[in-house]
Amino acid sequence: MNKFDFNNRTAVITGGAQGFGLDIAKRFLDSGAKVFIWDIDEKLIRSVVDEAKNPNLFYNLVDVSNYQNVEKIVSEITSNNNIDILINNAGITGPTAPLWEYDLEMWNKIIQINLIGAFNCCRAIVPNMIKNNYGRIVNVASVAGKDGNANASAYSSGKAGTIGLTKSLGKELADKDIAVNAVTPAGAKTRILDQMSKEHVQRMLSKVPRGRFLEIHEFTSLVCWLSSEENTFSTAAVFDISGGRSTY
Ligand SMILES: NC(=O)c1ccc[n+]([C@@H]2O[C@H](COP(=O)([O-])OP(=O)(O)OC[C@H]3O[C@@H](n4cnc5c(N)ncnc54)[C@H](O)[C@@H]3O)[C@@H](O)[C@H]2O)c1
Repeated sequence: MNKFDFNNRTAVITGGAQGFGLDIAKRFLDSGAKVFIWDIDEKLIRSVVDEAKNPNLFYNLVDVSNYQNVEKIVSEITSNNNIDILINNAGITGPTAPLWEYDLEMWNKIIQINLIGAFNCCRAIVPNMIKNNYGRIVNVASVAGKDGNANASAYSSGKAGTIGLTKSLGKELADKDIAVNAVTPAGAKTRILDQMSKEHVQRMLSKVPRGRFLEIHEFTSLVCWLSSEENTFSTAAVFDISGGRSTY
């Protein structure tokens, strides 16, 4: 495995209590970073941090869809640390259903967490990055945001929105040493798959030329490079990790 240098870097990873977020947190910690994981699952996040027994791992209960909540925690963290890295990873898929039958509240909730959540975190953290003229932001979108998955209109729209947000913000910050990129993974075996029907997951898998699920560590590797000091040029871009599914 490649080694990354995250010494003296502080990272915030949203949705960090499990799945992709937790794996990224572990690799950042192993590479010298101080890491704040944010999540709404109080029991899980506490047990993960207790178990890790790592003095560089911290947690905050943050609902990314609530701007006041995000802003309060950001001001607490930045009173002692700069935030060098932000991984906007918190997300839900919601249930699978055709658009005309989709539960209205759930449709809004998915956009509120997946898209507005990423906006909230960028809105609150970017001023600190500008002050330090340094930052690496990775927005976790999805292949669904490029291709659009049937029966997942809210999820696909939110992830497409995240791609648009990345492209705009990346350009706004391009004159500084701040990179903003999005990643578009295909399906990986995390707990998020439990939210969708088995048939839906099987249909997603059948579209992947690699013919298998994405491994979590494969995803983490890409996020690490994008989050590292070595990434001095790429910004406002979308990095595909869909096993050949997306053609752009
Ligand atoms: N696993 C996949 O197949 C896959 C594929 C493409 C994209 N993604 C994206 O990757 C990201 C991580 O997914 P995962 O597979 O690790 O899922 P996961 O369900 O294992 O983890 C997501 C975490 O986000 C947290 N979360 C949910 N709502 C939140 C909120 N409002 N505020 C803070 N935290 C919140 C959850 O509690 C959970 O711990 C998501 O954005 C997801 O859409 C996943």
